[in-house]
Parts: sequence; structure tokens; C-alpha cells
Amino acid sequence: VLANPLRPAILAAAKSGLLERSITKAPVTRRIVDRFVAGDNREDVLDVARRLVGSGRAISIDFLGEDTTDRAQADATVQEYLSLIGDLGALDVAPINGAAPLEVSMKLSALGQALPHDGDRIALDNASTVCAAAEDAGVWVTIDAEDHTTTDSTLAILATVRKDFPWVGAVLQAYLHRTEDDCRELCGQGSRIRLCKGAYREPESVAFQSNSDVDASYLRCLEILMTGDGYPMVASHDPAIVAATGTYSRDATAVEYQMLYGIRDLEQVRLAETGATMRVYVPYGTAWYGYFMRRLAERPSNLTFFLRSLATK
Ligand code: FDA
Repeated sequence: VLANPLRPAILAAAKSGLLERSITKAPVTRRIVDRFVAGDNREDVLDVARRLVGSGRAISIDFLGEDTTDRAQADATVQEYLSLIGDLGALDVAPINGAAPLEVSMKLSALGQALPHDGDRIALDNASTVCAAAEDAGVWVTIDAEDHTTTDSTLAILATVRKDFPWVGAVLQAYLHRTEDDCRELCGQGSRIRLCKGAYREPESVAFQSNSDVDASYLRCLEILMTGDGYPMVASHDPAIVAATGTYSRDATAVEYQMLYGIRDLEQVRLAETGATMRVYVPYGTAWYGYFMRRLAERPSNLTFFLRSLATK
């Protein structure tokens, strides 16, 4: 089965500044965005965090932003993460199956990786600053995966950060041909790996293109992680993947299910109620355009809903 035929066009639009300006200004967009994004500011996201944690779910909060080409913006992102971690540390929530219930997720391209000079070093320094604060607050950190041109740099920065903070996790994307090897490399003791299908537009030379090939790759990667010595974080809304995860005899302290805020909320609650660790990825902030477009691209019904709302205005 081929992926959503509109996916490449929507993902191309996700990179268009012109479309970004018109779509983010359309008043109706806001209501639909609110389904996937927990508000513009920290106060908003902390309300959502309290509600999710109160229902027995763990959370990972992402301050939206990516592809920063401005040093001051990267520094401001670090400051926002430090404030967020301070606020999360004050929530005082009990661990879930031994896991930290509170986590932040961050994109290295928001921390300076895409800067023209010294991007890798700046992103590394900034990531380390965030990780040091998180360690003090008892909050976990996972580094998001972006498009394939960043994978080598991101995994190199992860390896360096993990020398000081071995509990820091990373995301691997099953649609990339390389990911089975990366899973083998990163399935050792203490290694926290969030496995997702992958959300960017990638060429055939590096990524599987059809849904069935991506799903098959996901299951092969899952097998490596679930039979390894690390800590797999199964990030998917796909019932087949959730079911496959359940077939491995790992106890609840050694694996997590993860889904996105606003997607399959009832299934999230159901999984948490079985005693499993269920973590919800919760984005907030005003830079939601790229994230929102990736959500539209992965599900035609989300797009139809969005277009219909625009048409009725
Ligand atoms: P997919 O979209 O193929 O859907 C499979 C099935 O799930 C559907 O057929 C349906 O049954 C069910 N389903 C999906 N959406 C539904 C809905 N709204 N309602 C009901 N059922 C629904 N990507 C990336 O490139 N880098 C990253 O760092 C991350 N990080 C990340 C963290 C977490 C916690 C998650 C859950 C996901 C990511 N992703 C990501 C996104 C990921 O790569 C992928 O794009 C989405 O998760 C969609 O893929 P699924 O595995 O959910 O399956």
C-alpha cells in the first residue's frame, strides 16, 4: 500500500514560508491546531500536563520550534526549556513503573544544530545545559529525530551527551533504511530508544516509501529493541504495532508505549489502565506550523477535516 498520495505535497508545504504565513493567520486554523498542540505558553501546557498525569499517563513536553538559523533564538529556546524543567520539577509526581513520569523532548535544530557556524558544537552545549537541569529536577530528556540529513550529527551529539547523562534517550525512524543498524547499535543496557515510523519527506535512496515497507521495517526494528538490553519506547498509534509490542515478554518496567497529544486519547487511557507505562508527547508554543502540517500529512482524515472547516468559513 502506498502512503497517502497527498503526503509529499503537504510535507513540501510544511517547508513553505508563504503558506505558513497564510495558514497560521486563518482564524479557523486555531481550533484544529488546538487538537494537537497544548497552547501557546508554559501555563497552557502545564494545565494539560497536570490533567494527563492525573489520569495515570506519563508525559514528554516539546517546546515547538525547529531549523533555527538565529543564535539568539537557540539561546531563548534553552531558557524556555530551563523554565519548563523548573516548573515540571515542582509538580512532584510519583514514578510510573520506575520511569520518570515527566520528560522533555527537544529538537537539536531548535538548539542551534542548523546554524551556519559551529552548529553541532552549539547544539551539543545547549543540549548538555538542558540535560544538567533535567537531571537535577528528576526529569528525563529525549532527543527528537528530524530529517535524514541530520541523523549522523544527532546520533553523534547523543553519544557525547550520554557520556555525562547516560539516561538521555533518542528517536529512531523506522522508515530510514539505516535504522535497523542504528537499533542494533543502540539497544544496549540503559539506552532509551523511542521508535517511530518517521514523519518527514524523504527520498527513496534513504527511506522506504510504501506504508507496508515502513510497517515491516518498524516490526524488524521493534524485534531488535525488544530483545535487546535497552529501554524501548514504542511510539505509534498503530493498533498492529501496539499488539506486536504486547507479544514480547517484557515487564512493565522495561518498555513504554507513547502516543501524541490529541491522538487516540481513549486508547492512551486504556493502555495506562492495563498497568503499562503510557507516555504522551505534548507540544506547545507558537511555532506549531511544521508540526501541525506533519500531522495533517500522516492522516487524510485530519486533512479533510481541516479543509472542510476552511471551506465553511
Ligand atoms: P500511522 O500514521 O501509519 O497510523 C497507523 C494506524 O494508527 C492507522 O491506520 C489507525 O488505525 C491508527 N491511527 C493513527 N492516527 C489515528 C487517529 N488520529 N485516530 C485513530 N486512529 C489513528 N516522527 C519523527 O520523524 N521524528 C520524531 O522525533 C517523532 N517523535 C514522535 C514521538 C511520539 C511519542 C510519537 C507517537 C510519534 C513521533 N513521531 C516522530 C511521528 C511518527 O513518526 C509518525 O509520523 C506518527 O506517529 C504516525 O505514525 P503511526 O505509527 O502512529 O502510524
